[in-house]
Amino acid sequence: MNSLHYTLQAGEQRFALRTAQRDLPALAANQVLIKVGAASLNYRDWLVLHGLRDTRSGLTPLSDAAGTVLAVGSAVTQWQAGDRVSPAFFADWHDGSFKPQHMASALGGANRDGVLAQHIIADAASLVAVPDHLSLEEAATLPCAGVTAWHALFERGALQGGETVLVQGTGGVAMLALQLASAAGARVIVTSSSDEKLSRARKLGAWQTINYRERENWDEVALEMTDGAGVDHILELGGPTTYTRSLNAIGYGGRIAQIGVLSGFDAAPHITPMQFKNASINGICVGSVKHYERLNAFLTKHRIHPVIDRQFAFDDAEAAYTTLAGASHFGKLVISTN
Ligand SMILES: NC(=O)c1ccc[n+]([C@@H]2O[C@H](COP(=O)([O-])OP(=O)(O)OC[C@H]3O[C@@H](n4cnc5c(N)ncnc54)[C@H](OP(=O)(O)O)[C@@H]3O)[C@@H](O)[C@H]2O)c1
Repeated sequence: MNSLHYTLQAGEQRFALRTAQRDLPALAANQVLIKVGAASLNYRDWLVLHGLRDTRSGLTPLSDAAGTVLAVGSAVTQWQAGDRVSPAFFADWHDGSFKPQHMASALGGANRDGVLAQHIIADAASLVAVPDHLSLEEAATLPCAGVTAWHALFERGALQGGETVLVQGTGGVAMLALQLASAAGARVIVTSSSDEKLSRARKLGAWQTINYRERENWDEVALEMTDGAGVDHILELGGPTTYTRSLNAIGYGGRIAQIGVLSGFDAAPHITPMQFKNASINGICVGSVKHYERLNAFLTKHRIHPVIDRQFAFDDAEAAYTTLAGASHFGKLVISTN
């Protein structure tokens, strides 16, 4: 079967996005052929495009998609043609703890082709069902950003209603975390460079907001907002420029989810104060197929629709990358494949 896909080609400054036709091979017994309905971008995809993470020439980029099953291999019993499905970020991390070999199964990274394509072939065991209340575009926002927020807050964070959560910025992970934590009855503080985005965050359920450009000491503001107790859960997305303030703002017994690298990879904070608060740092690397299933069950129960800022046509993928780099978006950027 002949199908269109994007590839990254080595260039001078960064990799270039190119489209190409490819012949899809016959399905192995455990594989599923999917017509991609939509894909979404994550900050990681910008890193991959610039050769800063797991890139190779010829790679099909992007990890996140949702689509419709066209055909299944001879041993596949759980899926059939017409099912709406989404592949997990780590094709081989099904359940249990994360193992070294799982890392190489990240879609759209050096070792596994990604999903910016009209059709993809995926292992049956790496797929989850798309919740009925979500469009394929909405479901395509979840494999990386949604699962990461879920894993941080619920699987490792054990978030309880009434607790406080702080998320940094208004991108994909942060806004999905806002929606999930609010639905669980938590009080969410959102920081952003933009008052307009903070106003949108309040409409989405934010309890308090802080413009981190106007109030650089957002950690002190968060301490005031929590009557000096500190925040129970912080999703650390900024990296070197935010870490020290996260350590100051975290509460007694609080949990920092180490997720992001928005200002670089070399955060080297002074962590000793964590011991005097009995606080912890949980390293989070997306999540498993089981995490994704539990996220979807929660989204279904609470009828949550992820926030899509803009949708781009398949032919316009370059513009989606440019928009991501501009950081003007609120929530997710989606490329529709239909
Ligand atoms: N560990 C993992 O498994 C995992 C999974 C997913 C993502 N990540 C990482 O998490 C981060 C967020 O990813 P994403 O895909 O959600 O990004 P995104 O959608 O591109 O969000 C970026 C937003 O973050 C805010 N921001 C940018 N620089 C910032 C800074 N220095 N301090 C605070 N906020 C800043 C801006 O929002 P405002 O304009 O509102 O300020 C910006 O629009 C990235 O570093 C990504 O690599 C890690």
